[in-house]
Amino acid sequence: MDHEFWHERWKERNIGFHQSEINSELKTHFPKLSPNSKVLVPLCGKSKDMLWLKEQHFNVTGIELSQDAVEEFFKDNNLNFNKLDQVYTTEGITLHAGDLFKHQESDYDAIYDRASMVALPPEMRADYSKHLLSCLKENGQILLIAFEYAQEKVPGPPFSVPEDEIKNHYSKSCDIVLLAQKSEKPKAPKFVEAGVEVFKRKTYLITKRPSSEA
Ligand SMILES: C[S@@+](CC[C@H](N)C(=O)[O-])C[C@H]1O[C@@H](n2cnc3c(N)ncnc32)[C@H](O)[C@@H]1O
Repeated sequence: MDHEFWHERWKERNIGFHQSEINSELKTHFPKLSPNSKVLVPLCGKSKDMLWLKEQHFNVTGIELSQDAVEEFFKDNNLNFNKLDQVYTTEGITLHAGDLFKHQESDYDAIYDRASMVALPPEMRADYSKHLLSCLKENGQILLIAFEYAQEKVPGPPFSVPEDEIKNHYSKSCDIVLLAQKSEKPKAPKFVEAGVEVFKRKTYLITKRPSSEA
């Protein structure tokens, strides 16, 4: 998935991944952090989940390739913003219009990954998880919502990212807890037409161990 693929998706309004409601797993499972904790939302699109995180008094940073998506976030939610280069700020939320892999801050208390790891093809996911860990403080946590389905029936994105793969990426330096899983019949035509029978959503809490314990 190169950058052009995502720019085209935004240009063509092919954004079925965008949710009009706040994600229920986020509301149930996001760690209880102290006010002003720094939360990273990688590959954030124009997710309204960032508004909920801000309402919890966290300092939210979203990274999104598409400048259109970033500007739509502020427009859709009637938020004023300041813009300096490719960085957009409003109270409690900073959005960077650019490539996650170039984002170098390393002091995040938590990361929220919904439809982000699963947006990337297999060959990018090891670098992606490594990069997320480089952004996260020791004892920091990732709330990850991943999907599983019969990948051989239909190509991603979203990709199926099974539990074993998540363990491969994160278990060396993190503790991983599966918090919730839901199985449903897929509704999106892409999956129905391909004959995918079960679509699973799994929610994990991934906690980075101090480096002396890695
Ligand atoms: C499937 S969407 C998910 C968006 C969001 N997480 C949500 O829940 O609505 C993936 C997003 O990642 C963005 N993206 C893809 N590669 C990226 C990269 N390297 N850096 C930053 N954003 C990227 C795309 O433009 C797209 O908006």
